[in-house]
Amino acid sequence: MKTHVITADPERYEESCLSGAADLLKAGELVAFPTETVYGLGADGTNDSAVKKIFEAKGRPQNNPLILHFSNVSECSEFAECDDRFYALADAFMPGPLTVVLPSKGICAPSVTAGLDSVAVRVPVHPVARSLIKACGKPIAAPSANLSGRPSPTTADHVIKDLDGKVGIIVDGGACTVGLESTIVKLDKDKATLLRPGGITLEMLKAVLGEVAVAPEVLSPPEPGAVPLSPGMLLKHYSPKAPLYLVRSEKHEKRAEFFRKSALCGENAVICFEGDAPASKNVFYLGTREDEAEHARRLFDLLRLADEGGAKRIYAPMPSGDGIGLALQNRMLRAAAFRIKDI
Ligand code: TXA
Ligand code: MG
Repeated sequence: MKTHVITADPERYEESCLSGAADLLKAGELVAFPTETVYGLGADGTNDSAVKKIFEAKGRPQNNPLILHFSNVSECSEFAECDDRFYALADAFMPGPLTVVLPSKGICAPSVTAGLDSVAVRVPVHPVARSLIKACGKPIAAPSANLSGRPSPTTADHVIKDLDGKVGIIVDGGACTVGLESTIVKLDKDKATLLRPGGITLEMLKAVLGEVAVAPEVLSPPEPGAVPLSPGMLLKHYSPKAPLYLVRSEKHEKRAEFFRKSALCGENAVICFEGDAPASKNVFYLGTREDEAEHARRLFDLLRLADEGGAKRIYAPMPSGDGIGLALQNRMLRAAAFRIKDI
């Protein structure tokens, strides 16, 4: 299949430039598109044979359900049982980087929910994503547009590297502004559970919902044989090809010294803060130490860059765990297959 790339600058695109992509979706084909979190690989969420093509293109296990993307909150209730807690969350954070898992009405294509009786719904805030969903006229089922197991794509270039020849159109809407996948919260009758941390932080969810449980697999490897609440939370995920080690220390200076020394060996790639180690082709900067939103934006790109340089091992700092730091910690622990280096 020949893959075409269409540019849609979020500041100045004309909606008509998306009509070819919308037609392709309506015809049951795949389109990769930008969102504020990461790029998505979309198909018409009501067309089961179209949705199946997503699993094939990504090499994704069939038992891992997909998120349904809507252009407006009001459309979600056709597909999911939306209660007051959902609408409170929607008022506060939608459109935006939040996904809510609700009881499914069983209307979407069966492959979207992978046999579960719940469905994940999200209204992205990226204008190009919303225009495309609106032009398609159906909710779009979309996972991240990477090959299964690779870091999620935050630019159209990342999508091209993973999916060239496997998708009809890639819509290039620039770099993603959040850079980590959406927060996922599951609403059961009597409780709310954070399944995946993201740009809408645990603190923000608690401000609306009160108590929010955190699924054990957010920060720990799943127990052997345990069924994770979210099937996508496998042990190894988002992973670069070279082994990644998360470097943890009480003292920032000690960690910076470790990075500086590690960078002297060309076989290592070092992902660190500005000022930790001098610039070099095997040193990749997350940004200044305090700016975790910037670390989130850059992380997946840096994991790919470190790999492309052919590193034998990659070192990166263990994130704080507060605010968006929890999402960073969750992704980086998985990318590192829970390898931590205490120094
Ligand atoms: O930011 C995002 O959420 C991006 C963009 C494209 O919207 N999408 C994304 O999709 O990250 P994906 O498929 O890479 O991750 C979705 C996660 C998976 O871990 C999946 O298991 C979980 O959501 N999920 C989907 N439906 C679910 C459900 N009904 N119950 C529990 N987990 C569900
Ligand atoms: Mg993914």
